[in-house]
Amino acid sequence: MRKIWRQGLRSLVPYDAGKPLEQLAAELGVPELARLSANENPLGPSPRVVEAVAREAARVHLYPDGGATALRAALARRLDVTPGELLVGNGADELIGLIARAAFEPGDEVVVPEPSFEPYGISATIAGARAVPSPLAGYATDLEDVRRKVTDRTTAVMLCSPHNPTATIVREKPLRAFLDALGDDPPLVILDEAYRDFVDDPEYPDGVALLRRHPRLILLRTFSKIAALAGLRVGYAVARAETLDWLNRVREPYNVNRLGQVAALTALEDEAHWERSRRFVIEERRFLSEGLGRRGYTFPPSQSNFLLVKVPEAAALREKLLRAGILVRDGADVGFPGHLRISVGLRATNEKLLSLL
Ligand SMILES: Cc1ncc(COP(=O)(O)O)c(C=O)c1O
Repeated sequence: MRKIWRQGLRSLVPYDAGKPLEQLAAELGVPELARLSANENPLGPSPRVVEAVAREAARVHLYPDGGATALRAALARRLDVTPGELLVGNGADELIGLIARAAFEPGDEVVVPEPSFEPYGISATIAGARAVPSPLAGYATDLEDVRRKVTDRTTAVMLCSPHNPTATIVREKPLRAFLDALGDDPPLVILDEAYRDFVDDPEYPDGVALLRRHPRLILLRTFSKIAALAGLRVGYAVARAETLDWLNRVREPYNVNRLGQVAALTALEDEAHWERSRRFVIEERRFLSEGLGRRGYTFPPSQSNFLLVKVPEAAALREKLLRAGILVRDGADVGFPGHLRISVGLRATNEKLLSLL
């Protein structure tokens, strides 16, 4: 038999994003389903973004700017970096794939906290590299263990802070100590900050400041969460220009579409909406945390737009919430059996959720 498909892909299964929301609601016979399973932003995008996207729609016969020039210029001004230190991707997801395509080879090792955001390990596997798991210490990233797992074969370390699915952060002092301990020929350190805008812990590090001292660091950020643009797929990497030069070699020429670029640019300009999103998440996270605490539930304090809640009978409870019109994530699907991962919803949804619990 002719061999067609790559051997290394045998352990993978296609990602199952679940049924479309409308189909699920129709099947359940509920008029509306609140999705608290995907860490989306229920406030929705800025009205200015919606207008800008509508205007841009008339130009979709033209290819987008392959270099996302205007967006990178705006981001550079905001972050005080150069445009050459920015690369815009079709969601942070694409950037994870670009890193794997540019850096990982068979025989390489990639240290990944376990559990954590699934695409890290998957991207390593696709590239034929070996994902080396570093177990969490409870709900926290164990930087000591991650450092011990780094060998001469380690090409990259994938960290996320706030962590998905635990919502905990890596604080500045231990992170700096970790980066210093990797020495002067370290692997790439990917610091995924997808949920950074929801952090209110004063010890959360400024990733951009760390770049000055650590040239192999790559920060990943996204417009999906704070700017509520998940459906348009815009994320970006901040890194040294020489690092991004490698990623640009494997990037598709027109990787970020026209509507996404315009939406992200306008979202950056609408600082009031950005701040409204941030305040909304922090306030509703507090409301949910207090309500859950009063009902005797335990969970790691969240620095993100979701909570990982320990529950008895997770699958049955998820089913009960679903029948009442609230979709949450079974922790078993993200490495935490006996938990539910619940995104922050609008106040009415959060109240309903608490009453069901
Ligand atoms: C930790 C983490 N990184 C990245 C992403 C993906 O971001 P994007 O929507 O920009 O691809 C997510 C999405 O849930 C996430 O949880």
